[in-house]
Amino acid sequence: MNHGTLERNSILLVVGILIVVAIGGLVEVAPLFFVESTIEKVQGMRPYTPLELAGRNIYIREGCYLCHSQMIRPLRDEVERYGHYSLAAESLYDHPFQWGSKRTGPDLARVGGKYSDEWHRAHLADPRSVVPESVMPPYAFLARTPLDYRDIERELAADNTVGVPYTKDMIDNARADLEAQANADSDDATKLAKRYPKVQIRDFDGNPDLISEADALIAYMQMLGTLVDFSTYKADAPENKR
Ligand code: HEC
Repeated sequence: MNHGTLERNSILLVVGILIVVAIGGLVEVAPLFFVESTIEKVQGMRPYTPLELAGRNIYIREGCYLCHSQMIRPLRDEVERYGHYSLAAESLYDHPFQWGSKRTGPDLARVGGKYSDEWHRAHLADPRSVVPESVMPPYAFLARTPLDYRDIERELAADNTVGVPYTKDMIDNARADLEAQANADSDDATKLAKRYPKVQIRDFDGNPDLISEADALIAYMQMLGTLVDFSTYKADAPENKR
């Protein structure tokens, strides 16, 4: 076609642009209808336990994501510092995901197990007591504040409506599971461990008389990045393929 005609007629130009954009859009969108999933399945991933989920809520409420990312990029310096790069599947049950966009502090995607609970307690109460040059604000009130988990069943049910595979059993027992995880001696601990493999059960805040917000937040910190076993993970292994 004569290009001059197209450029001098605005209606024709708009129609032309729409056609070109539509082709570009189709090329991007069409394949998504033919692949079964854009997120590969990975062994070990499970939904958050009620206590971890409550801790995650506190993480969001306190804005921890404003200074911390949870997304290790597949770049050599990141992988050497933080461990295996983040897999899409590791954010599968995050609503919303906590990738973050700023690192005033380190990435937390694999902070689980890096420090003891005592370290986290001291660090949350007063970061400079363990890292003298830290600019992280203190969150001492978390250890004093009782965790409000009156809505925890509904929280699981809400996540279920957006695709997190919480079973009826998990939802019905959410409250008992939450209390059991913060108390190593609980009779419900074995049931909890059955529902949530690799769950860590103990008194995270060091105060057996109170299920505090620190209990939930530390339980969440300590499980981050621990579900997928990267000593055996292979991206192209059959169990990680659909
Ligand atoms: C104003 C920015 C800021 C905010 C908000 C913040 N942090 Fe930090 N955080 C830092 C910095 C800087 C460090 C590195 C120094 C240190 O370890 O204290 C850090 C370190 C950490 C570490 C140790 C990570 C490692 O691998 O050594 C953890 C865990 C942590 N923060 C958790 C949290 C949690 C949980 C919250 C929310 C309750 C939070 N942070 C809020 C800035 C922040």
